[in-house]
Amino acid sequence: MKNLSDIGVIGLAVMGENLILNMASKGFTVTAYNRTTDKVTRFINGRGKDKSIRGAHSIEEFVNSLSSPRKIMLMVKAGSAVDATIEQLLPHLSEGDIIIDGGNSQFEDSDRRTAYLEEKGLLYIGTGVSGGEEGALLGPSIMPGGSRAAWPELKPIFQAIAAKVNGDVPCCDWVGNGGAGHFVKMVHNGIEYGDMQLICEAYLLMRDVLELSVDEMAQVFADWKQTELSSYLIDITADIMAYKEDGKPLIDVILDTAGQKGTGKWTGVTALHLGTPLTLIGEAVFARCLSAQKEQRVVAADIIDGVTTKFSGDKQAFIDALKDALLASKMVSYAQGYALMKQASEDFGWELDYGAIALMWRGGCIIRSVFLDDIKKAYDKNPEIDNLLLDDYFNQAIKAAQPGWRKVVSEATLAGISIPCLASALSYFDGYRCKDLPANLLQAQRDYFGAHTYERKDKPRGEFFHTNWTGRG
Ligand code: NAP
Ligand code: ATR
Repeated sequence: MKNLSDIGVIGLAVMGENLILNMASKGFTVTAYNRTTDKVTRFINGRGKDKSIRGAHSIEEFVNSLSSPRKIMLMVKAGSAVDATIEQLLPHLSEGDIIIDGGNSQFEDSDRRTAYLEEKGLLYIGTGVSGGEEGALLGPSIMPGGSRAAWPELKPIFQAIAAKVNGDVPCCDWVGNGGAGHFVKMVHNGIEYGDMQLICEAYLLMRDVLELSVDEMAQVFADWKQTELSSYLIDITADIMAYKEDGKPLIDVILDTAGQKGTGKWTGVTALHLGTPLTLIGEAVFARCLSAQKEQRVVAADIIDGVTTKFSGDKQAFIDALKDALLASKMVSYAQGYALMKQASEDFGWELDYGAIALMWRGGCIIRSVFLDDIKKAYDKNPEIDNLLLDDYFNQAIKAAQPGWRKVVSEATLAGISIPCLASALSYFDGYRCKDLPANLLQAQRDYFGAHTYERKDKPRGEFFHTNWTGRG
């Protein structure tokens, strides 16, 4: 083991421990520290034993064990714990040392912390780390942003421990200044919410419209693994459907109330702040909220009538249409997520590389899928494209999927089945390709009651008009 460690990690919970083991397996010497120092002893004598890992039992010992410039990665609970740990470190650091926050921090906090530490002559990295426990150990997707000057120091470590795809391409690259890394991780989590809800809606339609058995649904998801839908989330859904407890499908006894930690909500709130339509992810967050209102739904189900139309068509044709609907909606979701990143990049001056982001998500994380290669190709063709729906590949793919998508949304509506993400994706798609939205009437209403003025189709843009709609003075 080297005299001084290449990097130090603070926080020995699930993520910290596994990242340290990953780093050691790639030949780096790592110092481990945790607020509750018993955990250091336990780790060093347990999973960390006989590896290039040393334990520290005080902040001072920890800092003194690191080679210069010091690289200190925090894997502590997001929020005030990060600020508290930074304050403890500060008196012991030297100019040019680097603090890295690898937790799920809010991007505004990473912006603030980068500025704060740069003022003190230090460097700061806020990085998304995705892939959970297994990813942290075997290769996560890593999305670093913050002080650009720190990247050359960290690149060899981060790219060594990251997941690899398409040969040996690491799922880690520089994202951008300030909070850019955590912003991209936030959008990743929002997209994850959307992907998961879309799959749930496909399941609901197969269960309640087609009345397929769980085994039949397991086969459909297994078949989809061989298609453009191929992804980690489709893989695990096929496994979940096939899983039996006492000979019966476990899925049937799991309560239909979802929890959330909040990153999907942050994505939606950020989209509202930036004025960018992010309807699908927003609906996915609200779908979790609605699911959590279990007691109300149970009461409402007995009081409020819907429809009881039975499906009478060709089941296989509907399953094929469902695959198309899922693919088209997923394309809309990613188009919206990327449009949000483009808006943020312009507003915050980040110069995000959208193709590189697709590659970072290609492996190691929960939204990993072959589909991300198509996004990379679209940005290789035109790095400045306003919306992925304008790319020729996506345009043609949605054109082919459209009949099935519309059929699914119509059938679900007729059958009284709630499909907020599939339906809102189609509605956004039809809105985005609509030359004449009804906002002319909206502007007239605003002008009528609030004299907010309007622009005219028969006059140049930027000229504003007001009408006295009632003729009153
Ligand atoms: P966690 O449960 O979020 O945090 C536990 C760690 O934080 C422990 O080391 C704990 O120390 C430390 N901590 C809590 N409050 C502290 C304080 N005030 N001062 C100093 N240390 C404090 O751990 P995790 O699940 O490994 O996640 C770490 C970060 O990665 C989080 O931001 C999480 O959101 C993010 N993340 C997690 C996953 C996942 O799958 N778990 C995936 C991606 C990202 P003590 O032992 O002393 O309490
Ligand atoms: P990763 O970066 O690997 O995606 P993460 O950001 O910590 O790890 O979250 C993993 C996924 O598990 C997220 O989609 C998370 O959703 P929330 O943001 O809603 O938490 C999901 N997850 C974690 N705990 C959950 C819970 N109690 N209920 C539902 N989903 C949960």
